[in-house]
Amino acid sequence: MRAVYAESINPDDPLAGLVVGERPEPEVPDGWTRVAVKAASLNHHDLWTLRGVGIKAEQLPMILGCDAAGIDESTGQEVVVHSVITTPGWTGDETLDPGRSLLSEKHQGSLAEHVVVPKHNVVPKPAELSFAEAACLSTAWLTAYRMLFVQSKLRPGQSVLVQGATGGVATACISMARAAGLRVYATARSEDKQAKALELGAHEAFASGARLPERVDAVMETVGEATWAHSVRSLKPGGQIVISGATTGPNPPADLTRIFFLQLQVLGSTMGTKAELVDLIGFLRASGLRPHIDRVLPLEQAADGLTAMAGGDLVGKIVLEV
Ligand SMILES: NC(=O)c1ccc[n+]([C@@H]2O[C@H](COP(=O)([O-])OP(=O)(O)OC[C@H]3O[C@@H](n4cnc5c(N)ncnc54)[C@H](OP(=O)(O)O)[C@@H]3O)[C@@H](O)[C@H]2O)c1
Repeated sequence: MRAVYAESINPDDPLAGLVVGERPEPEVPDGWTRVAVKAASLNHHDLWTLRGVGIKAEQLPMILGCDAAGIDESTGQEVVVHSVITTPGWTGDETLDPGRSLLSEKHQGSLAEHVVVPKHNVVPKPAELSFAEAACLSTAWLTAYRMLFVQSKLRPGQSVLVQGATGGVATACISMARAAGLRVYATARSEDKQAKALELGAHEAFASGARLPERVDAVMETVGEATWAHSVRSLKPGGQIVISGATTGPNPPADLTRIFFLQLQVLGSTMGTKAELVDLIGFLRASGLRPHIDRVLPLEQAADGLTAMAGGDLVGKIVLEV
């Protein structure tokens, strides 16, 4: 089958190890199902894999891709794939299973004609969502949903800062925060991107590091080193930073004094549960909100999409159609 995979690891030139080519059809273990992928979206995770973060050379070749929408071949239903694969017998919050992995970490990923997943890991795709829209949900949008509505204590009427406005997770945070009745501030690196943040629903958008008109109740952080100091400075006493990514690096100065003196909370967040994915889909249906898709490319043009992502040259999600 056609697939987009990592053949080798290169920390400095991630695209060097990328191949679009033939891979064997996957075997379907007992209790698993094969999904004919219609659309899958790119995530920064795919670049991390090509750089060798979270994967070892002996696991290669590894098909990339953490999320997909397609047809479950055992039921004929249109489905969205939940990408958090737990150890057999795990019950409860899937993201807290110490043995859990995302597609493309231990198991082959979704940027291919077919992906196999445990039968438990599919949820129905409503007809009103296109395959391309549905393919944006189970990584970036699910992560944003859990950050905003599960990990943070935000209530409608409160304020939130979204750092790095135009990324996949960040655009989802802006759109959902606005729809949920929060006052939304966003930062982005260029004036063009700040304008996009306003179109997506931010009330006000600023250059990275700029002083905000008020301190906020919570910050949604995925950028890491480049924005951390600003995130800590932007919070009210008792405020929360919810962090799910560190694109620009994981070790900024922690500013511990400010954290304890102002009783700030730092909350890690990763992906979301299957139940939260179902609720996210319900939120989109109820609100009419849809993922902002930067571009849709054929699977064969995966390198173009990943090059744009590596250069920060995108607003929202890049979707590959199979
Ligand atoms: N924990 C989880 O479950 C989980 C799930 C999804 C993603 N993540 C992580 O979250 C991060 C974002 O993922 P994504 O898929 O949304 O990536 P993406 O679409 O490539 O977005 C990257 C973001 O980084 C910002 N950025 C990059 N360099 C920057 C700099 N020097 N200064 C300020 N902002 C900068 C960009 O903001 P502007 O260009 O708008 O300024 C953009 O918002 C990644 O590190 C990813 O691994 C984690």
